Amino acid sequence: MSRSFDLVLRNGTLVTPSGRAQTDVGVIGGRIAAIGDLSSAKAASTFDAKGLHVLPGVIDTQCHFREPGLTHKEDLGSGSASAALGGVTGFFEMPNTNPSTDSAERLAWKVARAKETSWVDFAFYVGATMENADSLGTLEQGEGVVGIKMFCGSSTGSLLVDKPADQLRVFRSGKRRVACHSEDEARLKERKPLFEGKSVHSHPDWRDEECAVMSTASILALARQANRKLHVLHVTTAGELPLLEANKDLASFETTPQHLTLAAPECYDRLGTLAQMNPPIREARHREALWEAVRSGMLDVLATDHAPHTLEEKAKPWPQSPSGMPGVQTLVPVMLTHVNAGRLSLERFVDLTSAGPARVFTMRRKGRLAVGFDADFTLVDLAAKQTITNAWSKSRCGWTPFDGFEATGWPMATVVRGQFVMRDGALVGAPAGQPMSFDP
Ligand code: DOR
Repeated sequence: MSRSFDLVLRNGTLVTPSGRAQTDVGVIGGRIAAIGDLSSAKAASTFDAKGLHVLPGVIDTQCHFREPGLTHKEDLGSGSASAALGGVTGFFEMPNTNPSTDSAERLAWKVARAKETSWVDFAFYVGATMENADSLGTLEQGEGVVGIKMFCGSSTGSLLVDKPADQLRVFRSGKRRVACHSEDEARLKERKPLFEGKSVHSHPDWRDEECAVMSTASILALARQANRKLHVLHVTTAGELPLLEANKDLASFETTPQHLTLAAPECYDRLGTLAQMNPPIREARHREALWEAVRSGMLDVLATDHAPHTLEEKAKPWPQSPSGMPGVQTLVPVMLTHVNAGRLSLERFVDLTSAGPARVFTMRRKGRLAVGFDADFTLVDLAAKQTITNAWSKSRCGWTPFDGFEATGWPMATVVRGQFVMRDGALVGAPAGQPMSFDP
């Protein structure tokens, strides 16, 4: 019996759960239908992937695409285009839009909008508030919803659940893993006046290690009390790692490429407020601790916290300057450069950007190159040398903290459920992203 494939990628080096294989992968109906020698198979279209590595589609689990309300910074169309250009096949998007994404209607609006405008697959977080705390169990089950996001410390926008009693209500509402921005609000408020009139170099002193450690220790205890799984977003401190290790049965965590790449004070000398984000980029000893978590296998997920603001907004004097930087488009080249430098293996990169998200968030049919899974592929040239520039970056904010970064390893094509959305650095086709789905 000879099957006819919609698409065959020929002769790439596939990174599969059972190792690398230089072979073919065939797609039917948006799913992987065969892996192996398909040289004599019929196919409506073929792509010569010789010399390229074919990775499971990279999923960025922390993006702020700003729609509705803040579309001068980004929207679902521009953010997802930036993702596709960077080799990213799916994203989770954050609820600190305007209005905040905190009800069934607002979630449904985003899903409908993304179905019209997103280049890649998507899911949305529902923002926890004091008002919706008891209905989160229903909200987290909506179409295209990944789960609950709780801001335990304040950042961009008005979402905040900072009192332990309210945080416990959130942990007791629903059953999916709760994603937490973990900084202690009381300590943030108390310390802010200490830094009046100072420069952005004070950002990691204001929002210090203790601020993250206090919050993470507290939410781990609350989650245990509620017997609820949690995911600590953008972990940035050495001090949190032993706590997370001791609570591995309950807690997963992520860090960002920028926290693995940049360090204070150099990043603030060079980039000023462009390097300002929450939680902050810190001195090199924290970066080293995070790399140890990459190497030891402890880190679960790598995500970018893509959080664009315009250059005009960023030009305000600190601390009026907003926190956040874009990242979805630079994730793959920055991290492949670390792969080439021997800091992590390609397999570990795949683990952190596709298999890890699929496992932690119980995603259906995503995260591995295997028959039956969605045909999401990130095709990369590990040897390609290219410089990241502001001009290449297609986020509406028009800049990247990695402008001038000489990358080794570059995304050459992005395939979502069997359709090319990026080829040789250009968008192809049309936005056709779909909501991702999860175990209940
Ligand atoms: O730096 C940040 N910016 N951290 C966050 O948690 C939010 C984000 C934003 O939305 O700007």
